[in-house]
Amino acid sequence: MDRGSKPAVLVTGGAGYIGAHTAKALSERGFFPVVFDSLSSGFREAVRWGAFVHGDIRDTRALSEALAEHGVKAVIHFAGLIEVGRSVAEPDLFWEINVGGTVSLITAMRERGVGRLVFSSSAAVYGQGGRGGLETIPEAAAKTPASPYGDTKLACEWMIGAQCRAYGLTAVALRYFNAAGADPSGLIGEAHEPETHLIPLAIAAGLGAGKPLTVFGDDFDTPDGTCLRDYIHVNDLAAAHVAALEVELPAGVFEAVNVGTGQGRSVREVVEAVGRAIGAPVPHSIGARRAGDPPSLVADVSRARELLGWTPQCSSLDRIVADALRWETRPAYGSGRRASNRPKKTIG
Ligand SMILES: NC(=O)c1ccc[n+]([C@@H]2O[C@H](COP(=O)([O-])OP(=O)(O)OC[C@H]3O[C@@H](n4cnc5c(N)ncnc54)[C@H](O)[C@@H]3O)[C@@H](O)[C@H]2O)c1
Repeated sequence: MDRGSKPAVLVTGGAGYIGAHTAKALSERGFFPVVFDSLSSGFREAVRWGAFVHGDIRDTRALSEALAEHGVKAVIHFAGLIEVGRSVAEPDLFWEINVGGTVSLITAMRERGVGRLVFSSSAAVYGQGGRGGLETIPEAAAKTPASPYGDTKLACEWMIGAQCRAYGLTAVALRYFNAAGADPSGLIGEAHEPETHLIPLAIAAGLGAGKPLTVFGDDFDTPDGTCLRDYIHVNDLAAAHVAALEVELPAGVFEAVNVGTGQGRSVREVVEAVGRAIGAPVPHSIGARRAGDPPSLVADVSRARELLGWTPQCSSLDRIVADALRWETRPAYGSGRRASNRPKKTIG
């Protein structure tokens, strides 16, 4: 891609699900994304905008060279490990990559005088979710992560905040709720392995390409007994990153902002929406509750509106499911090992 005079933004983890959509949004907004990714869970085929640097965020020298070589002005930091269950089994690895990798990144940024950062945080910092009821969760709610994964996200926020106060870094941490959907182009989409997210699993079950779906508990204190979550279209999430990069903030400021829709949708509603999109009910059974699953995790999104001037544009459940289904029924990235377990059926 011809860079011209476009400002360069380093996108760590830009070969992954949310990073690739954000690289596209940056490019459309006139930035030049420089994706820095180890491809440990990402895909080279997802890097279609800007430049690609193959590297590990724990390698401070490689990061520093990439920042200098491309004249990077700002960083959006997605790279890391994301599976909650694995974090319980391998907490040391999560601290090494998520926290150690973030130390490495901010060290390289300081070395190269790059003073602007947007960080992928998570609703996992809230653990059981505010007061544990059905209320929406504001940023000031209690932070009591329920997993080592959530611990690492909160630790990174604290460290980045301290770095802002000490050295004048300006940073926004975006606490995502449930990222879902795919770009309507069908070029990029969600491809986690193992896949643990409800919408791709429901689509795979509905197309007969995956295991029948298990709904974990239908006896929660919610309107239909299944858990409520806040699903945000990945392109709305990408737009929030661009807004967080562009918002005028004084040097040394750290802000943490929820990114969701403010609307809870139940697991049962999602399963029904997938069934409607496919044209056949999704085979599923009701299983036991998972340990630590809160009944509701729904964002209070007023801060995102006030600070970033951002509101979701394409996050209706039907739109999310339609875009996810289009992606799931196209050929997967490449023909590599992670392509093997994807649905083969094509929907017209
Ligand atoms: N998907 C969600 O619903 C969700 C929700 C909350 C927060 N997040 C956060 O958003 C970020 C992106 O999530 P995603 O769903 O796109 O995950 P993903 O696994 O698709 O993307 C992560 C990317 O980081 C890269 N990576 C991992 N370790 C690396 C390392 N050491 N060095 C360089 N690159 C490395 C991977 O190759 C991959 O391309 C993560 O930090 C995650 O914790 C995601």
